[in-house]
Amino acid sequence: MESKRNLILAIETSCDETSVAVIQDGHLLLSNIIASQIKSHMRFGGVVPEIASRHHVEQITQCIEEAMTEADVTYSDLSAVAVTNGPGLVGALLIGVNAAKALAYAHDLPLIAVNHMAGHIYANRLVQPLVFPLLSLVVSGGHTELVYMKEDGDFKIIGETRDDAAGEAYDKVGRVLGLPYPGGKRIDEMAHEGEDTYHFPRAMLKDDNYDFSFSGLKSSFINLVHNADQKGEQLNPENLAASFQASVIEVLVSKTLRAAKELGVKQLVMAGGVAANQGLRNTLTKVVKEELSDVDLLVPPLSLCGDNAAMIGAAAYVKYNRQEFSGYDLNAQPGLSFDNYGEL
Ligand code: KG4
Ligand code: ZN
Repeated sequence: MESKRNLILAIETSCDETSVAVIQDGHLLLSNIIASQIKSHMRFGGVVPEIASRHHVEQITQCIEEAMTEADVTYSDLSAVAVTNGPGLVGALLIGVNAAKALAYAHDLPLIAVNHMAGHIYANRLVQPLVFPLLSLVVSGGHTELVYMKEDGDFKIIGETRDDAAGEAYDKVGRVLGLPYPGGKRIDEMAHEGEDTYHFPRAMLKDDNYDFSFSGLKSSFINLVHNADQKGEQLNPENLAASFQASVIEVLVSKTLRAAKELGVKQLVMAGGVAANQGLRNTLTKVVKEELSDVDLLVPPLSLCGDNAAMIGAAAYVKYNRQEFSGYDLNAQPGLSFDNYGEL
């Protein structure tokens, strides 16, 4: 007899991507539909929460239908419905949470709440099994964290940014350079055409902790550009991008490496939108090979670095196996953190 497939329909609407996926047994991706709203937010230079919510409402039903069709499954095949309930924009999260509740109720399926940041880490599970203990460098538009996991579903933040997230700093300096939102990807490309000639500060590099700070770097960058503007001096944009990126990467990589060594982890896992950064991927791959050759480095494919529902389905599978289900009173938690995520 064929054993039953565990199929989870997952929904992600925490920011500016409406995404729905169907995941089998926590790691097989049957479909992963992503409707990006980025073009609607671009002219405002950032995500406008009200516009994000409206787009999610317009997109969600069609994304669910497409994900089911592409996976070639019916509702009676599903084992559970999972949804991101935080962190994120409250209005955006609520669209996904309510859609998930409606589906769970209509088809009598268990409902699973997933922390968006756990999703980013579990994006790697769609490629390869996770091996514990592991350390994850989670770098996105809203978060920059070093997360220690001693086992599945157990998240401990051992360091985080004291101010701006790495992605946020990328997008802010991108704006100063006149790049369209979000500027991260473009700065990464420009950085490869320039050199670190401006030598920006490396914040908290030598501090005896695993925390980060990017607002000083951002201010140095902005001051340099504004002063040059006032004096009518020309700066080299590629070198500016390369200098900014060199500072971000040096701090991220050196703290991650030190934490991985001190904690004796078996795997090092990159996660989040900034994990798409080519400079960061290359540098981390190189130093792990040189200095931590017994540690397995997982780098998610570019298609799974940004926000998507497949990663939410992969993280949900852990809770599914433990039968950690939510009731219909599940609410959006815009400030959800690992500190109040499940039982540690
Ligand atoms: O994880 P994500 O898709 O959304 C959040 O949960 O925040 O991350 C988006 C962030 C944006 O700040 C974007 O500029 C940044 O990831 N990003 C990059 C690159 N690609 C995306 N930052 C640096 N280099 C990249 N190649
Ligand atoms: Zn994200």
